[in-house]
Amino acid sequence: MRTTKLASPWEGGLDPTPLTHNHVVRGRVEAGDQRGRQLGVPTANIVLRDDSPLADGVYAALYIRPDRAPWPAAVSVGRRPTFYPTDGPRLLEAHLIGFTGELTGEEAEVLLLWYLRPQRSFGSAEELTRQLRRDIDAASLLLCEGLSAPPDASPTPHSS
Ligand SMILES: Cc1cc2nc3c(=O)[nH]c(=O)nc-3n(C[C@H](O)[C@H](O)[C@H](O)COP(=O)(O)O)c2cc1C
Repeated sequence: MRTTKLASPWEGGLDPTPLTHNHVVRGRVEAGDQRGRQLGVPTANIVLRDDSPLADGVYAALYIRPDRAPWPAAVSVGRRPTFYPTDGPRLLEAHLIGFTGELTGEEAEVLLLWYLRPQRSFGSAEELTRQLRRDIDAASLLLCEGLSAPPDASPTPHSS
């Protein structure tokens, strides 16, 4: 029998996959290159050990602050190949959705929940920024709207 793989309804190479095991990263937030602020996507950066078993990629996650307040986040794990073609430091970078404020210096806990896509090298900062917007929208849908059902599933009508 011939089967056809359905195209992902998500744009920008996203194919959200729920993680089946807990992946928690704890660490101190370090000052980054400050490029994220210029791109309009500030991030909290945690340096990862080279032997960390986490796979490089982009994730939807919860970022837990020291007061235990959880924030939905779009997270990158990798070496920023767009800016460091070789030998970039291996980082976890979390963009907290809807957060404005300073995170540098705090001890954070990041709970990775969905894998969204692999790390890529983009041709320009603008191209990267367009993709970051799609990543953030996808993380927001998955974490804030609870969108885990197939995209064509009809919502159950509420009875009044
Ligand atoms: C959700 C998300 C996805 C990212 N994906 C990539 C990527 O695919 N390729 C890449 O080179 N950098 C990626 N980055 C990292 C950005 O390049 C980085 O955040 C930006 O350069 C700012 O760096 P800074 O925090 O040191 O200022 C991603 C960052 C986030 C928050």
